[in-house]
Amino acid sequence: MTLHDFVSATQVSPAFANQLIDRAQAFQKGAAPLLTTPYYAANLFFENSTRTHTSFEMAERKLGMTVLPFNPAQSSVTKGETLEDTLRTLAAIGVQVAVVRHPKDAYYAPLLEADLPLHLVNAGDGAGQHPSQMMLDLMTIRAEFGHFAGLRVGIVGDLTHSRVAHSDMTLLTQLGASVMFGGPAEWYTPEFAAVGPRLAMADLVPKCDVLMLLRVQLERLSGEETAGFDAAAYHQAYGLTEELYERLAPHAIIMHPAPVNRGVELASSLVTAPKSRIFTQMHNGVYMRMAMLEAVCAND
Ligand code: CP
Repeated sequence: MTLHDFVSATQVSPAFANQLIDRAQAFQKGAAPLLTTPYYAANLFFENSTRTHTSFEMAERKLGMTVLPFNPAQSSVTKGETLEDTLRTLAAIGVQVAVVRHPKDAYYAPLLEADLPLHLVNAGDGAGQHPSQMMLDLMTIRAEFGHFAGLRVGIVGDLTHSRVAHSDMTLLTQLGASVMFGGPAEWYTPEFAAVGPRLAMADLVPKCDVLMLLRVQLERLSGEETAGFDAAAYHQAYGLTEELYERLAPHAIIMHPAPVNRGVELASSLVTAPKSRIFTQMHNGVYMRMAMLEAVCAND
């Protein structure tokens, strides 16, 4: 259960996913970290974040790591220093683990080629991958149902721009779940059609064991798309309304990576509804990120 860098869902086999969940659940029950030497970590967020940034920092601190502050706006990136040189600089200073979020899809590919002398963990790249969100989502689903095989997962919303959809659909399918989609047709591109059907919300909602709603990422839409976006119309057509909530199966759960656009992806009253696991996802994320960080450092 080791790898040097953790950047993509494609590095995770079903067996490895289950091992990471086992380890995260052990941390949740109070297991001690296996790391013996002192570690220094830095979190480089070139895109805004509340959950992922604070959750990684909490995970690092719970593992006994020392966390060095890094603020892109006050760094020499503003003077034109490359990401590779920034990471090499941090490594030279003594940082062993760098957690990076960046707006560029697959920003990590040239960094892996460069064979940097530190561990790289991807905290989200553009519309590409979000492996720690994927792993905490899988942990939340397994904790709820005990398995993945045969589960029916509906992923709804801004599929094209969603690194969560890209990461989650692959592993869910490999783990034996069936994935269906909802949301506007223009965001249901062939890569999603190859995985599962797109259904109207009234048909999709009663079929789901897990209904995963995705944030409409207005910051990634074109100017034309943003100008034409009608939040109320979106909510009625593709959101989880209070009426649709009543049509969920009794055992079904709602997930959302957050931040939530209240009243858009789901009615504001449903964010903390009994079937919502949105804050459970965030809680699980700390333990899952501990398991991921421990896995990348395990062979040092
Ligand atoms: N889910 C998620 O990645 O949230 P943040 O953007 O707040 O990190």
